Amino acid sequence: MLSDNHGRKINYLRLAVTDRCNLRCFYCMPEEGLQWLARKELMTYEEMLQICSLLVKMGIEKIRITGGEPFVRKDIMRFLTALGQLTGVKELTITTNGVLTAPYVPELKKIGVSSVNLSLDTLDAGRFFAITGRDEFANVMLTLDELLKHDMEVKINAVVMDGKNIEDIIPLVELTRELPVSVRFIEEMPFNGDNHLYGGLQWDYLRILEEISSKYPGVKKIGDPLHSTSYNYQIPGHKGSIGIIAAFSRTFCGTCNRIRITPTGELKTCLYDDGVLNIKDLIRQEISEDNLNKTLLNAISHRAKDGWEAERLRVQHKGVHESMATIGG
Ligand code: GTP
Ligand code: 5AD
Ligand code: SF4
Repeated sequence: MLSDNHGRKINYLRLAVTDRCNLRCFYCMPEEGLQWLARKELMTYEEMLQICSLLVKMGIEKIRITGGEPFVRKDIMRFLTALGQLTGVKELTITTNGVLTAPYVPELKKIGVSSVNLSLDTLDAGRFFAITGRDEFANVMLTLDELLKHDMEVKINAVVMDGKNIEDIIPLVELTRELPVSVRFIEEMPFNGDNHLYGGLQWDYLRILEEISSKYPGVKKIGDPLHSTSYNYQIPGHKGSIGIIAAFSRTFCGTCNRIRITPTGELKTCLYDDGVLNIKDLIRQEISEDNLNKTLLNAISHRAKDGWEAERLRVQHKGVHESMATIGG
């Protein structure tokens, strides 16, 4: 078992396979997009398989593929298929914006992907365009349909943004009436690639819950799975559930079981740190597996105790500012 210096079990890897994305969600990146990484700066699939294979031997059991948008990287199914075959991976999951995902759903199911987290901040095509800068609402809804048709576990991620999608909170809750999905409302974080001064959080998890309870006084707290990022609730009679993720308030760090690898191979032991070592560079210097193992153990035994400490200890840029597309959420 892999555990950190605060006694937390580490068994979950979030691997971002690309920084590229086919949407321009304003809370994630500037309108003009990012300066995309050159190919040689990205980990190759072979390098990613190598590190995943080692981490699985060290105790990682669950891998979530993120981006950017995973399905914009060429040959992603070849990589996912190989990951699905890696001995020791108990759960393989993906976070996607759903624009290109629908046609892949049957194959995803076949290779063992058990659940998909779908980013969807609004149920209105006009507001979708205003938030994402692209006219892709219909394709995302198609992906949602396909996922449900194939009995995939689906979590919908909606970032709650003042002046942008507050009117969507209740319609999104309504989606759980007939659909067996978990709709999670996420506090906005300042990972927007802009370096602009963050104006303070308008909608924290308490205010989001208040908004929901004011319309649904019967809303009930339900159990939270171990290591869950969301506080979970249900409206009695609804098939699905709702969740609230205090991503900015960082209330769940005490049970955090995850590490991250960015598209350039940077290891992050917390979402809020600025990277603790570069795995791709070590692999390209032909580090031995034994030494890589020791280096990783050392990093994991120096984890910040929570996202606040990780942010304080950042070396390169104080205060988070980078695009979520370069981290994977
Ligand atoms: P599962 O538990 O595997 O379903 O993952 P998840 O819900 O954490 O993953 P997802 O990719 O759907 O992310 C949902 C939101 O939670 C995103 O806004 C993430 O940035 C945020 N999030 C995920 N992990 C962390 C974390 O460790 N800390 C913080 N503060 N936010 C996180
Ligand atoms: N704040 C909160 N969540 C964000 N995401 C992307 N950028 C931000 C942000 N600035 C979410 C996306 C996606 C998940 C991986 O992270 O909606 O669902
Ligand atoms: Fe793309 Fe996801 Fe960022 Fe939106 S949040 S721009 S879908 S990477």
